Amino acid sequence: MPQPQLRVYVPPHPLIKHWLGVARDAATPSPLFKSAMIELGRWLTYEAIRDWLPTEELMVQTPLGSCSATMVNPEVPLVVVPILRAGLALLEGAQTLLPLASVYHLGLVRDEETLEASCYLNKLPRQFDPQTRVLITEPMMATGGSIMMTMTELTKRGVDPALTRIITVVTAPPALQKLGAAYPSSTIYTAMIDEEVNQQGYIVPGLGDAGDRAFGT
Ligand code: URA
Repeated sequence: MPQPQLRVYVPPHPLIKHWLGVARDAATPSPLFKSAMIELGRWLTYEAIRDWLPTEELMVQTPLGSCSATMVNPEVPLVVVPILRAGLALLEGAQTLLPLASVYHLGLVRDEETLEASCYLNKLPRQFDPQTRVLITEPMMATGGSIMMTMTELTKRGVDPALTRIITVVTAPPALQKLGAAYPSSTIYTAMIDEEVNQQGYIVPGLGDAGDRAFGT
């Protein structure tokens, strides 16, 4: 059996490129940066849910007759997991497309010295239905510490990695390598892959600290 390989999509959408440019620009003020993140959350979600959102075939009555219709299947559980803080801004965009999805917050903070992630808030349920589709919102995947911790927390609660989609604005090779080795059946939608992560764990050129810039801190 061939092993699955991590799929990483960089959708060639002009609005994704545009809002990435706005977010990268150091002169962009915080409220506009937040808007850029919301827009990126919207368009990356749009791309990510194409072949993932469960549908069902129904018959509907139009004013003139009956016809078949493909509708979102409300029976299949859908979940969004934003990684706090910065994942909240992407969540806002994602929710415009998935208004009925449950949202489980995960608060992770990175130690500035060791670059290790630690968890300060975990609102995940004890167990997920194995059919649950999980969309993770994480703007920056640099060293991969936060996304790896998130996947560990999700899979030990019954989430199938093959049903996860990750939306991220900028990602870098260390995070992709770790994720690909541990969770090759997951899928990533990113606006860009940058090659470098500096000693402080920031992506270069990246866009700086996404949380600080989104919240003006
Ligand atoms: N987190 C950020 O906010 N920016 C980076 O470049 C890396 C991690």
